[in-house]
Formats: sequence, structure tokens, C-alpha cells
Amino acid sequence: MEKKSILITGGAGFIGSHVVRLFVNKYPDYQIVNFDKLTYAGNLENLSDVDEKPNYTFVKGDILDEAFVEETFVKYSINSVIHLAAESHVDRSITNPLEFIQTNVIGTANLMNVARKCWGDDFSDKLFYHVSTDEVYGSLGETGYFTEETPYDPRSPYSSSKASSDHLVRAYFHTYNFPMVISNCSNNYGANQFPEKLIPLFINNIKEEKALPVYGKGDNIRDWLWVNDHADAIDVIFHNGKQGDTYNIGGNNEWQNIELIKFLCKIMDEKLGREEGSSEKLITYVKDRSGHDQRYAIDATKLKNDLGWSPSIKFEDGLENTVQWYLDNEDWLNNVTSGDYKKYYNRQYNAR
Ligand code: NAD
Ligand code: DAU
Repeated sequence: MEKKSILITGGAGFIGSHVVRLFVNKYPDYQIVNFDKLTYAGNLENLSDVDEKPNYTFVKGDILDEAFVEETFVKYSINSVIHLAAESHVDRSITNPLEFIQTNVIGTANLMNVARKCWGDDFSDKLFYHVSTDEVYGSLGETGYFTEETPYDPRSPYSSSKASSDHLVRAYFHTYNFPMVISNCSNNYGANQFPEKLIPLFINNIKEEKALPVYGKGDNIRDWLWVNDHADAIDVIFHNGKQGDTYNIGGNNEWQNIELIKFLCKIMDEKLGREEGSSEKLITYVKDRSGHDQRYAIDATKLKNDLGWSPSIKFEDGLENTVQWYLDNEDWLNNVTSGDYKKYYNRQYNAR
């Protein structure tokens, strides 16, 4: 069998950086190539602990640049892809849908076209793992869960672009026997998440005693999963998932936004030694997100029964650890909010 040489796209982002770290440390015999454009969401500081490892290489590149993707495939003899690169923030997709269509739809097609060109018809030991979201299934009412059979019903430009890419990946499987697997995961939380998403944004705002903008009535429900558990699930599916299949990944952990926010306020009051109830006073109800999906909830039975994966930690512990991480890594947060994290790339890579 060929030595594994894995192109991880979007490896400098939130989830991608946890996947890169896991694979670099757990599989010293694999070559891990992190291919990332370093958009505003890409931050190489996330990987400063692994970037000197011999089995790790960073390549700055755009998945829309077909020629450069091909050059990278050839240079590193890429035989697997774990594709995470995407525009990922729903609010940004509402103001700039085309960017999402370019990166998430065309970018995915480009990668698959290059893989087909470089791999020819010999797909033995090859895999294209497409990382997707539960948002493709749409919005749930009070009951029910998303299973792998739930029909797609995406409702934001972001989720529609992810749904389009999922359809393309499956179409390549049926049309060309393209060796693919897809997972659709619920909301992630944890270290290194860009502070535009709910949990890190609110941690930062509470720290700085700024308003906490709750969309609508705050009664939307999300199913939260610790990012390290997502990375573990990706590891399991990459190695043992059935080609052509889809696996839902979830935390079995539904929270109404306002309840989660109040819980976060309580943890922050305790950690910052502030009077109980003081952070809650920062809650401010603001105009709702357009087309705001009401509820997401994943049924991850298939992944548990077929591949034996289930989440490893309780949300209460995971959230407390996460808050502690942001408090302990004030420099990371300050660098991201000030934009200074971009300097890391120049320091670390332009000097070489
Ligand atoms: P992120 O926004 O934190 O990171 C995205 C990464 O992709 C960044 O490093 C960025 O620089 C890179 N990127 C963007 N455009 C690129 C391009 N054209 N070429 C190369 N690199 C590019 O995203 P995330 O939250 O880590 O999500 C990663 C993946 O997981 C996405 O595909 C997303 O749809 C999916 N997902 C996210 C969640 C979640 O809760 N965050 C849940 C389920 C699935
Ligand atoms: O479900 C998986 C998805 O989870 C991923 O595919 C996306 O990439 C990821 O961004 C996330 O999408 P959400 O829209 O659910 O996450 P976000 O953190 O933006 O918002 C979580 C909930 O909190 C949502 O109901 C909107 C609400 N919210 C969010 C922000 C940023 C607020 O009330 N106020 C805010 O300021």
C-alpha cells in the first residue's frame, strides 16, 4: 500500500486545525499537507505547535486555482483529501452569497476534477472526504431529528452552497465511481474558533463588557459538539467509513440559544470573579437573522452503530474548558480581533 499523503484543505481554520493536529500527531507515517488560502478565517497560529513536525507541510493556496491545486497534488503525490475549506459563516453568506458559491461549490468541483485527473481510473487506496454540515437538511420544528435519509432543504446561501457541493460529490461517485465519503455535522464549539460565531463572540464580549446581541427571541435551537470530538469522528470515518456513504455527526446536545447564553454568562461570572448575574445584564435582543433556521438536531445512530463513535465529553465540561481556553489564550483572541494574527504567516513562512 502507498504511504498516505493527505491534502487537508482549510487546515488553518477552526475545525481544520484540530483535524490537522490530530492526524499529524497520531499518524507520524502519514504526510499531511495543509492547503489553505488564509482568508480572514485562516490562522496559522492555530498550528504553531505542529508546524515544525517532519510529516507536516503548509501550502498557501486557493482551491479555486485549479492549476496550483494540480501542482500540489503532483508535488506531494496526494492520494487522499479531507476537504474542509469553505466560507462558513451564515451571516456573511447573507451579505455576500457569491463568495460562498465560488468557494464552496466551484472550489469543491475543482478539487474533485484535479483528483480525477491525477488519480486516473485507479481509485485503489484513494479517498475524497467531504466535510459538510447539518444545515443542508433545513430547519426542524419542535420534534424530529436529521437522519442521513432526511431530504435536503437548505435555506441560507451558506447551507445551499454546502448542499450543492454535497450533491456534486455524490454525483461524482455515481457517475465516475469517484471514491468519496461525506459527513454532516452539527454546531462545533471549542478552542480556536473565530470570534464571529456565537460562543467565542459572546465570550469575548462578556470579557470586554460589551452587549451580547441575541438574534430574535433567542429561542432557536442548536445541537452542540466539542470540536475535538468532531475531529475524532473524522478520523474514524476517514479510516473506516464506507465509500459512497454519508454519516451524520452530532452531540445529542440541544440547547436553546438563550439558555446556552445564560449558562455561558454564569460560567464567565464565576471565572472572572464578577457578581452573579452581571454578565446576563449584557444580553440585548436584536433584529433576527434573515431566514433564521429554528432548530437543528442530529440523529447520529448510524455512526455509533456502524463505526462505534460517540461524543467523549459532557457539554457542561466542554463549555467550561472552552471558556478557560479563551481566557488563558488572551493573546490569540487579541491577535484575532486586532488582525495581528496575519503577521504570523509573514514571520513564519516569508522568512523561509
Ligand atoms: P472556518 O471558517 O473556521 O475555516 C475555513 C478555512 O478554509 C479557513 O482556514 C480559510 O482560510 C480556508 N479557506 C476558505 N476559502 C478557501 C479557499 N478558496 N481555498 C483554500 N482555503 C480556503 O470554518 P470551520 O468552522 O472550521 O468549518 C470547516 C468546515 O466544516 C466547513 O466546510 C464547514 O462547512 C464545515 N462545518 C462547520 C461546522 C461548524 O460548526 N463550524 C459544523 C459542521 C460543518
Ligand atoms: O450547524 C452547523 C453550522 O453551525 C455550521 O455549518 C456553520 O459553519 C457554523 O457557523 C454554525 O452555524 P450557525 O449559524 O448555527 O452558528 P452561529 O454561531 O452563527 O449561530 C448560532 C446560533 O446563535 C444561531 O441560532 C444564531 C445565533 N446568534 C449568532 C450570533 C453570531 C445570535 O443570536 N447572535 C449572534 O451574534
